[in-house]
Amino acid sequence: MPLSTKSILGMKELTKQDIQQILDTADSLKEISTRDIKKVPTLRGKTIINLFFEPSTRTRTSFEIAGKRMSADVINISGSTSSTAKGENLIDTARNLEAMNPDILVVRHHCSGAPELLAQHVSSPIINAGDGSHEHPSQALLDLLTIRDHKGYLEGLTVTIVGDINHSRVARSNIRAMQTMGMKVRVVGPPTLIPVGIERLGVEVSHNLAEGIKDADVIMVLRIQLERQKEGLLSSLREYSNYFCLTSETLTQARDDVLIIHPGPVNRGVEIALDVMESPRSLILNQVTNGVAIRMALFYLLLGENHANPN
Ligand code: CP
Repeated sequence: MPLSTKSILGMKELTKQDIQQILDTADSLKEISTRDIKKVPTLRGKTIINLFFEPSTRTRTSFEIAGKRMSADVINISGSTSSTAKGENLIDTARNLEAMNPDILVVRHHCSGAPELLAQHVSSPIINAGDGSHEHPSQALLDLLTIRDHKGYLEGLTVTIVGDINHSRVARSNIRAMQTMGMKVRVVGPPTLIPVGIERLGVEVSHNLAEGIKDADVIMVLRIQLERQKEGLLSSLREYSNYFCLTSETLTQARDDVLIIHPGPVNRGVEIALDVMESPRSLILNQVTNGVAIRMALFYLLLGENHANPN
């Protein structure tokens, strides 16, 4: 079955069936990354352009590896070395790239809505690799896959997201994705970092870490974006850590089998203590491994057999 959308702009466009199909496809593709020769011919002759206007370690690399493991040609372009640095606008950049007949554009941009804008001006499928504080759908999908790997199911699980919910595209995508999959979401952080009225989305709110992690099946810790301190939203990092850093001591309030995830990059000792990060309950590197499988699944479902000759 093809996905219900030709581009992956955000989790709001994906149905429960789409998400299940992406997770199942990723599961079946994982094995390729464990082979001696990590390559299949599935996307031979396809061209993928990664267009990144923001720094990235995990997302950019895993989209590149995913494309290459499926034999696609992958071209990486960063904002600072593209002609946008000479004043070309984003739409012109994308239209010029499209004139070279790529099969898919993967876009990360600091402006919320940039991938959606491009989708209105180019006909190639677009995958949003993170736009401003809006969405980061492939991150939410790899988070779901990691949780499902360890719990065996998603429906009915409670996930507590800790940190800067207001500015987090990871939180926004995960809240949508988790609710679509029948999971319960709780958010924890200081009032300045929690969107006003988020309860109306069916999300529970707590400003107390110990209370917020109680009974949770999964704790997702978010990176504290250091620039928020300059905006006056945090009085100091030390104060934030005193109240919201996930430590072994705070974890005594949580379930023994709680899973801990973090999208990265991590500020060690600010939002998560080093020993917690390195503990067996932490799945941070499993998330990174699953990132490759999820991105392979997205390429396969958008470009593979199902879509190569849709008519
Ligand atoms: N999780 C994530 O988006 O990490 P990068 O910024 O390194 O891609």
